[in-house]
Amino acid sequence: MANRIPLIAGNWKMNKTNSEAVELVKRLKVLVKSIKANDCEIVVCPPFTALSDVAKELKGTNIYLGAQNLHFEDSGAFTGEVSAQMLKEIGCKYVIIGHSERRQLFGETNAAVNKKIFAALKQGLKPIVCVGETLSERERDKTKDVIKKQITESLANVDVNKIVLAYEPIWAIGTGKTATPEQAQEVHAFIRSLIKSESTRILYGGSVKPDNIKELMKQKDIDGTLVGGASLDAESFAKIVKY
Ligand code: PGA
Repeated sequence: MANRIPLIAGNWKMNKTNSEAVELVKRLKVLVKSIKANDCEIVVCPPFTALSDVAKELKGTNIYLGAQNLHFEDSGAFTGEVSAQMLKEIGCKYVIIGHSERRQLFGETNAAVNKKIFAALKQGLKPIVCVGETLSERERDKTKDVIKKQITESLANVDVNKIVLAYEPIWAIGTGKTATPEQAQEVHAFIRSLIKSESTRILYGGSVKPDNIKELMKQKDIDGTLVGGASLDAESFAKIVKY
């Protein structure tokens, strides 16, 4: 895997109240404490309301904190939004940007994703930038065109060595339908050819579970996973981390 330290990130989406979130990381940190940061980076991305208390719970552990979104402006009249500086100060190391749910449900464009990446980098946060095709795009054989457009526009002028990418086929998210390791590898290799970087990590996301993680991680260009549903349970997420 060309010196790329695997990264396993849990995207909790709009799940877990603050107290539930703290409970979950309390269990998780015990289950994964034997994992060395050099062997696998572990990240959890709770909702905004739980970031502060989860950050306290994670102090001195091998689990990093990430947020699920941010606004690209530093501050100002943007009701309901959260800035990179706010996330940084609270203890976030990572931030997910351009998740397909943000793109599809909240109209996030490649241009907005691009601005968010710069906002995150300016504060020293590591963006986890998501791309992926819909089922109909895959069926019409448009996967590579879609990915190429997302990568080119979202990453315009971005130093790809400073970010993490996540390939998440939309048809595999929350559906129980995982891309086969070969299907995923094909797109990961394509993304790597576009970004021309051997050091950038490319995660796979979409129905990752304890029973499919091993095969996915055997692929040459899969450097970790972004896990939704299976990250909401400490035992199942720990199993994925310990693949
Ligand atoms: P899933 O979600 O693991 O529940 O399919 C993945 C994601 O959306 O990041």
